[in-house]
Amino acid sequence: MLPSLPRWIAHRGGGSLAPENTLAGIRLAARLGLRAVEFDVMLSADGTPVLIHDETLERTTNGRGRVAETADAVLFALDAGDGEPVPTFRAAASLCRELGLLANVEIKPAGGYERATAEAVAQVALAVWQGSAHLPLLSSFSLEALAVVRDRAPQLPRGLLYDQVPADWHAAFVELDARTLHCAAGQVDGQLLAAAAAHRVPLLCFTVNCPEQAKTLFAGGVAALFTDRLDLAVAETAAYNR
Ligand code: G3P
Ligand code: MG
Repeated sequence: MLPSLPRWIAHRGGGSLAPENTLAGIRLAARLGLRAVEFDVMLSADGTPVLIHDETLERTTNGRGRVAETADAVLFALDAGDGEPVPTFRAAASLCRELGLLANVEIKPAGGYERATAEAVAQVALAVWQGSAHLPLLSSFSLEALAVVRDRAPQLPRGLLYDQVPADWHAAFVELDARTLHCAAGQVDGQLLAAAAAHRVPLLCFTVNCPEQAKTLFAGGVAALFTDRLDLAVAETAAYNR
């Protein structure tokens, strides 16, 4: 079962306040009062699911080359910012469970690793959240990855993720037995909002860092927003709950 969705989800762990996709970011999000975090998961050369966004190491670490070609021994010695290591998905998942955070696990396979990445993520998620009433939400741009999760771990809620939402999104949604629809905020229009409402599908939008845009999206019926601006999320939540 999908736990109730908070209105705000910290993007890439701690948003812009911490190195992206690190445990420090996840801890910071929890400390600031966020109740949900999104992070990206890819496989190392050893097949270990790790938190990282790009297929290459250069932008977010002091390493070089492709994540899929980097052995764990090399990967875990890198600096992902402020001395933080690249975390394993298992460590991040355990931390989210310990902190009571809803984890939105974005399965981000390097090209050609869709099936393997989804299998590894599903396996670790099932182990870490065993017996938990607050399961993670697994999302992906890869329909193949989501189909693997549906078949291997049907109990794990799935989110269908698009940059551009296709006209036939609901067919894929039904096919994958998904729970949520995630899309770029710029994609949201009256037609999509109406369709999501008609199908009772929670719509989640990324990446919203502007209060006015957030206000418009929430007013239109969007369920939750991914943000780098954790300060904005905290302030808006406080005002909403007043
Ligand atoms: O999962 C929502 C969002 O994170 C997708 O975009 O590129 O930041 O992973 P990206
Ligand atoms: Mg992401």
